[in-house]
Amino acid sequence: MASEFSRDVADQTSAFWQHFYTTHALRHEPSPFARWCMQHHLTSGQRMLELGCGNGRDTFAFAGHGLALLAIDGCEVAIRNNIAFERSRQREGQSPRFQALDVKQINTLPALHPVWFDGEDRVNVVYSRFFLHAIPEVLEDQLLAFAGQYLPQNGLMLHEFRTTQDPLMQLGEVLSPTERWTDHYRRFIDTAAFCQKVKRLGWKEIHFEERNGLARFGAEDPVVARVVLQR
Ligand SMILES: C[S@@+](CC[C@H](N)C(=O)[O-])C[C@H]1O[C@@H](n2cnc3c(N)ncnc32)[C@H](O)[C@@H]1O
Repeated sequence: MASEFSRDVADQTSAFWQHFYTTHALRHEPSPFARWCMQHHLTSGQRMLELGCGNGRDTFAFAGHGLALLAIDGCEVAIRNNIAFERSRQREGQSPRFQALDVKQINTLPALHPVWFDGEDRVNVVYSRFFLHAIPEVLEDQLLAFAGQYLPQNGLMLHEFRTTQDPLMQLGEVLSPTERWTDHYRRFIDTAAFCQKVKRLGWKEIHFEERNGLARFGAEDPVVARVVLQR
């Protein structure tokens, strides 16, 4: 797919998220997806790399569930707020590690945090919520390659994202067949193509569903996919 994720779109997207996390109060209840993951797929002691953690709503819940976390987001304001929030409270167990990083630099992560990517204690879960549809496909491919390189055998990837069935795709400026610009960038994901791609890359599908009712927010009820994959 031709992407219209130009330098301008990338800069405006980054400005949107900086403004968003500067002006929106922190909201720390975990998402329905995070709750579902904890109920069905995640256990204490796992080591998770979370991509696009935003205000850490899911990160803090996973830490409370006993997981060790390295959580990245491209938005420095969000990461600074998360670090300040974590410092402001007393916690049993390990604090999440937050890192401001654009996912296009994901290959620099092992050098920044070597213990998370080497040996027995390395990351064994990759998680994202409402992140894959926030980045162009070229970056999705980069992070899938990264996860394939660093996750151990049986390692898990869990993703929730908007799909081409989402009515929101009808709104905004058309950047390409699946990319739209409203007040920020979104890429609506064709789930058949996504599932074929990850299968080709050697991932085993543990769970797939695509429907509305999974991520209601106010009046909004988007069509999203939940995908759980095992290496
Ligand atoms: C829709 S929000 C989702 C946040 C959080 N996961 C949640 O469910 O509330 C998308 C997040 O992706 C981050 N993001 C967008 N593009 C990024 C990139 N290229 N690299 C890293 N983070 C990015 C944004 O800063 C934002 O926090």
